[in-house]
Amino acid sequence: MRDYLLIYVNGRRYKISGKRGFQSLSDFLRNDLGKVGTKVVCAEGDCGSCTVLIGRVRDSQLLYEGIDSCIQYLYQLDCSHVITVEGLKDEAQIIHPVQKAMVDAAGSQCGYCTPGFVMALAAMIETGETLTRNSLQEGLTGNLCRCTGYEQIIDAGLSLNQEVIPKASKCYDAKLILADFMEHVVQPVYCEYEKKWNGVVSTSTVLCACVFRRSS
Ligand code: FES
Ligand code: FES
Repeated sequence: MRDYLLIYVNGRRYKISGKRGFQSLSDFLRNDLGKVGTKVVCAEGDCGSCTVLIGRVRDSQLLYEGIDSCIQYLYQLDCSHVITVEGLKDEAQIIHPVQKAMVDAAGSQCGYCTPGFVMALAAMIETGETLTRNSLQEGLTGNLCRCTGYEQIIDAGLSLNQEVIPKASKCYDAKLILADFMEHVVQPVYCEYEKKWNGVVSTSTVLCACVFRRSS
């Protein structure tokens, strides 16, 4: 049994304990880590501006997908690797090809939705989905833009050459992260925190269910 959650963000290891484990991933990224590239608009899973990639252990490997970070809580993410818009590129790149495609297609005006669209497109590349007009309309359906219009964003997606664009997860040492997760994923986790009810302070211990960590 351990008293901390283990989460990697852009390849960096974090141990999270106590009531910090009950905050949303978007709050953790923005407030605790200062990664404000992840935007929050609706805070209820409807607009996609907070999209990040999340890699979880499945069949002894890390599999990534896009999620809305405003409705994922840290206790749901034990033994996960989060990739944010800041962690999308490797050091050799100035911007990621998806970001460049958005620039070239004029897919951004105010820019508030843009990191979410970029991450949703990166998620489609990550899962190996073929980028067609239909698949893009489907894949980006959870991302809202109020000022640019969707045509330019679809054009950005259609301009991407999937054969040459590296998956974002390839920027990170999957072996090292996976080995760390495989060691930890079998342990139950508890978070202990103080709570106040009617002026009385008490300590609560919550077992963070392992159902979110189906693995191996
Ligand atoms: S802020 Fe997360 S979906 Fe809108
Ligand atoms: S660019 Fe302004 S909301 Fe999409």
